[in-house]
Amino acid sequence: MMKDKILVIGASGQIGVELTLALRRIYGNAQVVASDLREENDLLKGTGPYVSLDVMNKEMLHVQVIRQNITQIYLLAAILSATGEKNPGLAWHLNTQSLLNVLDIAREEQLQKVYWPSSIAVFGPTSPRQNCPQQTIIEPVTVYGISKYAGEFWCNYYNRRFGVDVRSLRYPGLISYKSSPGGGTTDYAVEIFNEALEEKKYTSFLSAGTSLPMMYMPDAIRATIELMEASAANIAVRTSYNLAAISFSPAEIAAEIKKHIPGFAITYEPDYRQAIADSWPQSIDDSAARKDWGWKHEYDLPGITADMLLNLRQE
Ligand code: NAD
Ligand code: SER
Repeated sequence: MMKDKILVIGASGQIGVELTLALRRIYGNAQVVASDLREENDLLKGTGPYVSLDVMNKEMLHVQVIRQNITQIYLLAAILSATGEKNPGLAWHLNTQSLLNVLDIAREEQLQKVYWPSSIAVFGPTSPRQNCPQQTIIEPVTVYGISKYAGEFWCNYYNRRFGVDVRSLRYPGLISYKSSPGGGTTDYAVEIFNEALEEKKYTSFLSAGTSLPMMYMPDAIRATIELMEASAANIAVRTSYNLAAISFSPAEIAAEIKKHIPGFAITYEPDYRQAIADSWPQSIDDSAARKDWGWKHEYDLPGITADMLLNLRQE
C-alpha cells in the first residue's frame, strides 16, 4: 500500500501550524508537506518539508501534488469572517476557487482523502439560536458564511458524483496560543488572554452578553484527525459536520480570567463584528458527529483559561 503523504495548504495559519505539527507526530515529519502563501511559521521551521505555494495557482498546485507524491490534502487557506466583509469579492474568490482547485486535482489524481473546514458561520439569523441542528434553515448573511455554505455543497457534489473522499467540519471559534488568529469574529477570545497578561485590561469588540460556540485548539485538532481517520462508511454527512464544545460570552470569559488575574478589567466597544456575531447561533447540536465517528470534546472554559494562561506565561 502507498504510504500516506500529506499536503497542508495554509500551514502557517492559526490552525495550520498546530495541525501540521500534530500530523507530523502521527505520520512522520517527512510525510507532511507544509505550504503557504506567506513565509514558514517559526514553529514549523526544522520540523519537516515546506513549500511556498499559492493555492489559486492550480497548475503549480498540481505540479506539487505530483512531484511530492501527495495522497491527502488538508486545505486551510481562506479569508475569515471579519476580514471577508472588508473585501467580499476576494473572500468569495479565494474561499471557493481554492476548494474547486483542490477537489479537481483530488479527482484527477485519485487522492485518498481531502479535508476542508467549514464554519458555524454558515448559519444565519433565521437558523435556531440554541442547539442549532445539523440540518436546518441556513441563510448566511456574511460573504464568509455564503462561501462556506457553497463549499459544503461542492464537497458533497464531488463525493457523490466523482467519489472524492472529502471530509469537513463546521468549526466553532477556535482558541489557541501558538499561532495568531487570522481575522475572525471570534478572535476576541484569543486577544483577551494576551491583553490580560500584558495590560491587565481588554476592550472587547463584542458586547458583554454575546454568547458564541467556542473550542480549544487541541480539541479541534483531535476532531480533525479523528474525522480523517474514521472509516469512510461512518461518514454519513458529506457536506460538513456540526462540531461543538462550549459556548461563552466576553463577560463570562473575563470572569474566568479574573480568577487567575484579580486586577483584570474588561470594557466593551462593539464594532462591525457585533452584527456578524449576532447572526450566528449561540450553541450547536453536534450529535451527528458524536454518533457517526465518536466525537467528544475535552476542554471546558475553566480548563481552556488555565491552560492558555499557563502556556502564554511560559512564552
Ligand atoms: P488563518 O487566516 O490563520 O490561516 C490561513 C492561512 O492560509 C494563512 O497562513 C494564509 O497565509 C494562508 N493563505 C491565504 N491565502 C492563500 C493562498 N492563496 N495560498 C496559500 N495559502 C494561503 O486561518 P485559520 O484560522 O487557520 O483557518 C483555517 C481554516 O479553518 C479556514 O478555512 C477557516 O475558514 C476555517 N475556520 C477557522 C476557524 C477559527 O476560529 N480559526 C473557525 C471556523 C473555520
Ligand atoms: N472563527 C471564525 C470567524 O470568526 C468562524 O469561522 O470567522
